[in-house]
Amino acid sequence: MKMMGCTNYIVVEKRQGQKCREYLETLQVYDTSRKMLVVGDTAEIPVISINPSFIELISEFVGMKVLTKESPSLVKDQKNKLEILRAEVIKLYGETSDLVEDLPSTYELYNDLILVPSQCLRKCDQSPEVFALICDIFSVKRIARKNAVVNDKFRSPRTDLLLGSDPWVWKKENGIKYNFNIRKSMFCRGNISEKLRVAKFDCSGEVVVDLFAGIGYFVLPYLVHANAKHVYACEWNRSSVEALKLNLKDAGVEEKCTVLLGDNREVCPEGVADRVNLGLIPSSSISWKVAVNALKSSGGILHVHTNVEVKAGEDKRSCWQKSADEINDKICNLLKSERGIRSTCNVVHIECVKSYGPRIYHLVIDLQCLIMVKTE
Ligand SMILES: C[S@@+](CC[C@H](N)C(=O)[O-])C[C@H]1O[C@@H](n2cnc3c(N)ncnc32)[C@H](O)[C@@H]1O
Repeated sequence: MKMMGCTNYIVVEKRQGQKCREYLETLQVYDTSRKMLVVGDTAEIPVISINPSFIELISEFVGMKVLTKESPSLVKDQKNKLEILRAEVIKLYGETSDLVEDLPSTYELYNDLILVPSQCLRKCDQSPEVFALICDIFSVKRIARKNAVVNDKFRSPRTDLLLGSDPWVWKKENGIKYNFNIRKSMFCRGNISEKLRVAKFDCSGEVVVDLFAGIGYFVLPYLVHANAKHVYACEWNRSSVEALKLNLKDAGVEEKCTVLLGDNREVCPEGVADRVNLGLIPSSSISWKVAVNALKSSGGILHVHTNVEVKAGEDKRSCWQKSADEINDKICNLLKSERGIRSTCNVVHIECVKSYGPRIYHLVIDLQCLIMVKTE
């Protein structure tokens, strides 16, 4: 399989096209706004922009060779719809109108709601014609606009609803429905490769602690797909907890999850976990000590999320390894001081979830922790 940068197409052999398309559809990464193309012996299936590690997972899941193809980053039909909108607004108000400048150049769709970037639709607010055009062209009933994130400890998105009053939307991924209040929580699309990796774990009989549960991005795959026995979900944002509870109920797994509202440093139980998820970036270090104490006395695995910067001229993989080793050393020291001097840990896997441009990588470092209780 060829690996390259983010892609908008997955290319497989023609005879496997349909099966792969259906699979991508269930994962909610199939881009329904574009058509699958058959070119010679291959089928080109349009997907939302995804990264190489995700492609690798797909090829494993689908059980077929996935050849990737570089393609323009803008989805053609998405672009078409934006162009249609622009043409219609020009027809109504003329090319020089401020309203034309004010139109979005990109968007996200959630059910019947369109979410546009923060800098647009500032002047269109008072123009019902523009809103009517948007609803018609994008087949939506609600319009929302992103806003700068509030600098509170929750980093709330402060999304404005420009049309409509119901802020609840949902997104289905890998068979799981994630409801959330678009005004108060964000949907982290970028973590899909990690969510799929978690879904493939076999956690039968295991107790998992998720220290940064959000609306359940990892809690749900642990319970629904990885078959965890129980999950303790810590989350300090009330709105996310509200969504998390709804999502657990929709998935029929609420009995298997204890939701702990509050700072994980205060609410996380000790000595219960076979596995601890630390999904906070750029660093989850504030809760490493909590994670170490959450592990059972038999030890377990920590999934430590972190961002790593690769400086110009440095080798990417050596940087990842160096960062993983540094984290391992620090957590090893915590294990020794908190759980017994002979306790130790080891890096068992480094997963690259996403890259932010060429230099910053979101990694998950898997650490196997051994706890050796002092015996005098
Ligand atoms: C970036 S989100 C991650 C959500 C999910 N793990 C993911 O990767 O998509 C981090 C979440 O952790 C929560 N959080 C941050 N610090 C926390 C703390 N000390 N205790 C409990 N929750 C916290 C935030 O409110 C947010 O919902």
